[in-house]
Amino acid sequence: MIKIAPSILASDYLNLAAEIRRAEDSGADWLHVDIMDGVFVPNITFGPGLVQAIRSITKCFIDVHLMIVNPEKHIKAFSDAGADNITIHAEAVDSLSLTAETIRALGKTAGVSINPGTPVEKIAGYLDKFELVLLMSVNPGFGGQDFMVSTIDKVKELKKRILASGSKTLIEVDGGINEKNAAALREAGADVLVAGSAVFKSSNMAQTIIRLKT
Ligand code: DX5
Ligand code: ZN
Repeated sequence: MIKIAPSILASDYLNLAAEIRRAEDSGADWLHVDIMDGVFVPNITFGPGLVQAIRSITKCFIDVHLMIVNPEKHIKAFSDAGADNITIHAEAVDSLSLTAETIRALGKTAGVSINPGTPVEKIAGYLDKFELVLLMSVNPGFGGQDFMVSTIDKVKELKKRILASGSKTLIEVDGGINEKNAAALREAGADVLVAGSAVFKSSNMAQTIIRLKT
C-alpha cells in the first residue's frame, strides 16, 4: 500500500511533540521534515537540532528533504541527528553519484528530488544510486500551494523508467497533495505521498490519511 508522509511544516510548532504523536496515532507511515535555507528556496525552516529532537520522541521513519545549497556539507549532521532517509535536490549538487554514496555510506537511504521545471531525464541515469526519487508537485519553499497536474505524467514517465531499469526506487510526490489528487498519483505509480496542509489542518487526521491511501 502507498505510504503517507505528513510534512511537519504544516504542524502546530508550539505543540510539536503532540502533533507528531497525533500523526503517528493517525496512521502516518513516515514523518517528512522540510529543511529550507533561504537560498535554494526563498523560505527558512529547521536544522539538524529539530530532527534530533523529533528522533528522541519517535521511532517513525524520518524523511528529511533538504532544500538547501551545498547539501553535501550537511548530510553528516542530519544523519547524526537521526534521519532515516536524506533527500537532496538534483539542482543543488555537482555530483549525484558522489552525494548518493555519501548518504549511503552513513547507513541511510538516499533520495533525489527534482523541481517541477526539471525533467525526469536529469535523474534517470541514477536510479541505481538512489532508493527514492522525490518529484516536486509545487515549486519548493512553501506549504499550502496548489498541486501541479503535470506531475501525474511525470510520475508515469518515471515509473516506466524504473520498471525498465529493474530498480526498486520508490517514487515520492510532494506539494499540494490532498484527497482530490491522491488517487491519480496512486494510479500513476507513486509509492509515497507527502502531505502537509491536508493532514495537519484536517479535523480528522486518521480519516484523511486513510482517504489519501485508498
Ligand atoms: C514544499 C515542501 C512540502 C510541503 C508540502 O516546499 O517540500 O513538503 O510541506 O505542504 P503541502 O502539502 O501543504 O503542499
Ligand atoms: Zn518536502
